[in-house]
Amino acid sequence: MGLSKPSAVITAVGGYVPEYVLTNTELERMVETTSDWIEERTGILERHLVHGTMASSDMAAEAVKQLLAKRDLDPMEIDLVIVATVTPDYLFPATSNLVCDKAGLKRAWAFDLGAACSGFLFALATGAQFIESRRAKKVLVIGADTMSSIVNYEDRNTCILFGDGAAAVLLEPDEEGYGLIDYNHHVDGSGYQFLHQKAGGSKRPATVETVANREHYIFQEGKAVFKFAVKGMADAAAELLERNGLKGDDIEWLVPHQANKRIIDATRDRIGLRPDQVMLNIQRFGNTTAATIPLCLADFESKLRKGDNLVLAAFGGGFTWGAAWMRWGYDGPANAPGVVNDRVLAKVSANGLVH
Ligand code: UT7
Repeated sequence: MGLSKPSAVITAVGGYVPEYVLTNTELERMVETTSDWIEERTGILERHLVHGTMASSDMAAEAVKQLLAKRDLDPMEIDLVIVATVTPDYLFPATSNLVCDKAGLKRAWAFDLGAACSGFLFALATGAQFIESRRAKKVLVIGADTMSSIVNYEDRNTCILFGDGAAAVLLEPDEEGYGLIDYNHHVDGSGYQFLHQKAGGSKRPATVETVANREHYIFQEGKAVFKFAVKGMADAAAELLERNGLKGDDIEWLVPHQANKRIIDATRDRIGLRPDQVMLNIQRFGNTTAATIPLCLADFESKLRKGDNLVLAAFGGGFTWGAAWMRWGYDGPANAPGVVNDRVLAKVSANGLVH
């Protein structure tokens, strides 16, 4: 075994959402919508927003600090940090650098990765390479997005969907068959037209005009994205299972990107899982883009058992989509704090779980 290639296994998770909650009822007062419409068409009840108090690096650093505390790890042990985000603090430097600074990761190198809602899955596959090649022993893969910084709260098509949050996983080498086993990732750049931010990059640098035209907000043709997402996410997951000779019965958990409950249900149906096998928290957090999948892992940590087979799946802007199969590497502790915010953190800290 010693000479074989190690696999990259998740050995710790941490998740953070900001304190402020934007409810569907509040949205009814902001745009022409109803709580029932939002719940029926998306599954979302509320989302957490930074409300101008934090940026992506701040939330990511909170998730990392929680993860390190849970495992009692020295920040100097981390070799590499990859942050998946479409809402970096700045266009440059990379948000990953700021996270390292804020969480005291002084020995790590770091970079950002942009694959929108599939960002965490792409970053996971990337981080795993450094473990498998033995170039790194401890890699942090983070999904962090401050969607409220690019949402137009006068546009009912998008403002109901998104939330802010960040979550981190630690990858370490494993030689016993746990960890990331296979993935099936794709891009189609021609899909950019249906979901993008029109200005602020090199194509259309910021001007008074781009701001006046509201081109710095998310632009989405929801119906078109929905159609591609239902097919892309389900196809990627189904193909992954098929080529590994797996059936629904072999899988314990589907960990889907949380964009719309109807897209998640379609993927679950396609691979033949029961509703209680799906990690779902879209009702509380909405679509936090790159953070959705690791936020699910943090949220459901206490339910995970060593050896569980997980299928992770996502679809997002770009277009980007994919699926990953991993064998979970540890029994989630019964007292795992789940996704924390400042209020929960204080309580958890009082119980001595997180310092
Ligand atoms: O994570 C990145 C990937 N993104 C996604 O996966 C998002 C994919 N898209 C979706 O989830 C859905 O398309 C949405 C939730 C964005 C929209 O749901 P939909 O069922 O596709 O609605 P629609 O766009 O077809 O609109 C249906 C009706 C329209 O009215 P008319 O034209 O039928 O009179 C909309 O104007 O619903 C209207 N509508 C709303 N009504 C109340 C659109 N937004 C709202 C709203 N409240 N917030």
